[in-house]
Amino acid sequence: MNDSTGSVKNKKLLIWVQEMADLCKPDSVYWCDGSQEEYDKLCNDLVKKGTFIRLNAEKRPNSFACFSDPSDVARIEDRTFICSRRKEDAGPTNNWVDPNEIKSTLNGLFDGCMKGRTMYVIPFSMGPIGSEISQIGVELTDSEYVVVNMRIMTRMGKKVVDVLGKDGKFVKCLHSIGAPLEPGAADAKWPCNPTTKYIVHFPEERSIVSYGSGYGGNALLGKKCFALRIASNMARDEGWLAEHMLILGVEGPDKVKNYVAAAFPSACGKTNFAMLIPPKEMEDHKVTTVGDDIAWIKPGKNGKLYAMNPEAGYFGVAPGTSYKNNPNAMETIKANTIFTNVGVTPDGDVWWEGLSKEVPEGVIDWTGKPYNPASGKPVAHPNARFTAPASQCPSIDPEWDNPSGVPISAFIFGGRRSKTIPLVYQSVNWNFGVYLASTMGSETTAAANGELGKVRRDPFAMLPFCGYHMAEYFNHWLQFGRNLSNPPRIFGVNWFRIDEEGKFLWPGFGENMRVLKWVLDRVNGKTAAVEGPIGWMPRYEDMYWKGLDFSREDFNKIMSIDTEAFKQELLSHEELFSRLYDKLPKEFFFMRELLLSSLWRSPAKWELAPERV
Ligand code: GTP
Ligand code: SPV
Ligand code: MN
Repeated sequence: MNDSTGSVKNKKLLIWVQEMADLCKPDSVYWCDGSQEEYDKLCNDLVKKGTFIRLNAEKRPNSFACFSDPSDVARIEDRTFICSRRKEDAGPTNNWVDPNEIKSTLNGLFDGCMKGRTMYVIPFSMGPIGSEISQIGVELTDSEYVVVNMRIMTRMGKKVVDVLGKDGKFVKCLHSIGAPLEPGAADAKWPCNPTTKYIVHFPEERSIVSYGSGYGGNALLGKKCFALRIASNMARDEGWLAEHMLILGVEGPDKVKNYVAAAFPSACGKTNFAMLIPPKEMEDHKVTTVGDDIAWIKPGKNGKLYAMNPEAGYFGVAPGTSYKNNPNAMETIKANTIFTNVGVTPDGDVWWEGLSKEVPEGVIDWTGKPYNPASGKPVAHPNARFTAPASQCPSIDPEWDNPSGVPISAFIFGGRRSKTIPLVYQSVNWNFGVYLASTMGSETTAAANGELGKVRRDPFAMLPFCGYHMAEYFNHWLQFGRNLSNPPRIFGVNWFRIDEEGKFLWPGFGENMRVLKWVLDRVNGKTAAVEGPIGWMPRYEDMYWKGLDFSREDFNKIMSIDTEAFKQELLSHEELFSRLYDKLPKEFFFMRELLLSSLWRSPAKWELAPERV
């Protein structure tokens, strides 16, 4: 195999590309150099094919919109497999098939699957190129959409090949949309395989094979497949953490800077929290963005934890994003952005639910047809996304691509819970924090295909992303804490509690700064807390309220704990524990007992003390 750049010296890479080309039988093989010219040409090709719509050059310079096939709109968890050699290593929360069996199935599917297409070779780095804690991958794909998205989401191209050198290691990422083109046949605008899809991971081999889908985490293999599922295996073996977390920095009026990492499940507010702009009355606090989706976290020599964002872009949820809710995201996507499954306006701009009040006249919906208000369907798909370079984010942290990462002072865990879980609480220690995160529940969202709005246990927001046995992952976290002299404090939050009318009790977005301030005040020993049945909680007077009309009654309502409902919550932990029983940390049973006994001692409705007169 000769590469078109003539500079590839890595024999293993050359041999693998040749073998895969022999199997997939593309018309040609193209090695991506990662240049702007290459990106522009591929985008132009996608426009010619009808896949991309070039947006208005004044309103949205160098940006494109596209609509996916209706069968290909989100991650497909039921087609995602962890194919470790032994089933028990994948654990009961992952789909598993014997690796030899699935390889023979995949070999059949990949035989000739790229006929009539080009195979693109995408060398990419997760983390800054050449840094010690970065990892290199090579994705082979027959999708131009994947190439241009990978150029935004990762550091990609020739420089990576140079770092790989003669015998550098890389993760093999094979991807096909599974739609070979017969000679003369017309291509679909969003080719994919409507019936057969597989997202397969081989943890021991550290390799990935994905077939049939061209969307997001199914196809941009550096993201969930590599940086979470494969990397979580690397992290367990090497003593670090690969997490579904945002990373943000906060500088207070005293100029002290703290960094926080937070895990919320898919479409539960990571991007919004990472780009938070404090309310006017808290302008002496400055929030900066390190990452919005994935964190690789390693212990430093000083006993602190350091986190880095392995990605180079944001693949963010579009619906709900607006200048009111998230101005930093709006500024980030002003130019050089790819929009997937949003609406397109007659003047060549984009639109989605929540961007503005009125649906624009003449808008095309995500199925590519004129929007019909009578249909009752949204203009943008609920999992519509933007792909934009991280460097365009106005709140980007100056250290965001520092290969050493940033020191972490606190972990925050939060799900989407309309009931039961209070706005904020602090775990009494590391082990209880690990318990809190392990038993986290969240209502399901459109980020994955499946039932919407159902509470499911989503440990650490990693249920769809942990590449090995979930209970071993809990043990890894416990062990990790034992080795830290001063572990970060651990907090739980819930922005999503609703009242009897179904309205959110908490204003959220920028106002989340008030919760973040209490978290950091706790970390820095600057504020008090009361002991509630599930951990430490702020009193009304421990929070900063200037500029927000939120009464003591409002606060007590969102902080109250319905003891019976929480007992049910603890019972549902049992359900998770019984699934994971054989490898579950035995500490968990005792912690559950302790929580139960503390609830037993609580009144039917536990509330913060009323105002003292
Ligand atoms: P992935 O990219 O899927 O991992 O998700 P994410 O966690 O980055 O999701 P994102 O920040 O894009 O979440 C989008 C959804 O969360 C939208 O429905 C928002 O309206 C909602 N959301 C974000 N922040 C808040 C908040 O503070 N309060 C409320 N009520 N909703 C919020
Ligand atoms: C998620 O679902 O958590 C995402 C989007 O961040 S995707 O990359 O499609 O998985
Ligand atoms: Mn995510």
